[in-house]
Amino acid sequence: MERDEALALLRRCVASPSHIAHSHATAAIMRKVAEHLGEDAGTWEVIGLLHDIDYDIVGGDMERHGVEGCRILIDNGVSEEIADIVRRHNHLLTSGYERPVEVALQAADSVSGLIIACALVKGGEIDEVTPRTVKKKFKEKAFAAGCERERIRMIESLMDLETFYRLAIEGLKEVRGDIGLT
Ligand SMILES: [Fe+2]
Repeated sequence: MERDEALALLRRCVASPSHIAHSHATAAIMRKVAEHLGEDAGTWEVIGLLHDIDYDIVGGDMERHGVEGCRILIDNGVSEEIADIVRRHNHLLTSGYERPVEVALQAADSVSGLIIACALVKGGEIDEVTPRTVKKKFKEKAFAAGCERERIRMIESLMDLETFYRLAIEGLKEVRGDIGLT
């Protein structure tokens, strides 16, 4: 599935602007990480866009999160491989991520909120956020407390955290207009 198609499907299934923004953010980070690793950037970006496709349907029921997303994607002609990655990304139901794409999704999903929170304390300016800013805020457990640090740290099996932060910030700069930042 192409990016435009994935975005159209996301918009049909998810109403919340903040969750569409979260999907854009995760997708942009996935693209950058894939490029860095020499992986399929287009596919990783689409996975980022689609990973929370069931957000409105499950309405906070984490027992169904991912499971419903997988079903929606299959029903809409998305490949079983991508649908299964989306199903498995619910870390409450899955353990042991080894594939780089799944590891990256865990980390991108969690770091996106942390970096956006860093930008918001700087007036919404993503250009003001550096890997150093993120490193500092990572250590403040109360800051953006919902962004699970241990899921971010999974990326260390693929690269060091500083490199990951740099890539993630670069990705978010490219979609600043879609995620409410300047
Ligand atoms: Fe997510």
